[in-house]
Amino acid sequence: MLLNKTHSEPGNPYVKAIIPRKVEEYCLRHSTPRNKLLRELEKYTQRHCESPQMLIGPHEGALLAFLVRLTGARRVLEIGTFTGYSALCMAEALPKNGQLVTCEINPERAEIARSFIKRSPHGHKIKLLLGPALESVTKLPRATKFDFVFIDADKENYVNYYETVLPRLKPGGVIAADNVLWSGRVLAPKKESDRAVVKFNKHVRRDTRVECVMLPVRDGVYLVRKR
Ligand SMILES: C[S@@+](CC[C@H](N)C(=O)[O-])C[C@H]1O[C@@H](n2cnc3c(N)ncnc32)[C@H](O)[C@@H]1O
Repeated sequence: MLLNKTHSEPGNPYVKAIIPRKVEEYCLRHSTPRNKLLRELEKYTQRHCESPQMLIGPHEGALLAFLVRLTGARRVLEIGTFTGYSALCMAEALPKNGQLVTCEINPERAEIARSFIKRSPHGHKIKLLLGPALESVTKLPRATKFDFVFIDADKENYVNYYETVLPRLKPGGVIAADNVLWSGRVLAPKKESDRAVVKFNKHVRRDTRVECVMLPVRDGVYLVRKR
């Protein structure tokens, strides 16, 4: 059973990762390193914030930045800012006139994110919307279309987020959804959040409007491309 083999992520004693530590460290050593501000934000989050394991970390951060560049995205939407780590990873990969809208419900977390976003040379690309993400996204003008969406908030709403953002995604646009392996619990769901992730994964797989691939990066990343 996967869960018996879990371990902490490098530099993060809280996450039950599904990839063997040494393999993940090797992957990280062979990926483009993060900048100083991102390293500082990671440390700050681990020292001062509750549930620091929610931060995606350097390996997945490098993947997101890579995907944003690869897709040539100009407009990115993020659901679940936390302290701003993933938003900063993606903003760095956007062109100068690119824009990233990120949604966060918790004012304290949003405040920390804003303080780091202000210090980044890419901070001007980021707009943080405080409040429940479903409301924030629904309020965006219908004509606003995104090239890339990162879903990383409450699992119970994953299907709702997906259905809300899909009409706002350009054809050929990509959704990346985080935690789709849920520390391996998708194999034996017990809690409501486990079942929510399983439901989301089935929902995507059955959706003929998209093509998809699930990657075992960190806690599982589902890549979904709109046809
Ligand atoms: C896993 S964390 C995001 C981590 C972030 N993407 C990163 O890697 O730096 C999830 C965040 O979603 C926020 N959240 C939960 N429910 C939400 C909602 N309904 N609307 C907006 N944000 C929500 C939480 O407060 C939390 O900060």
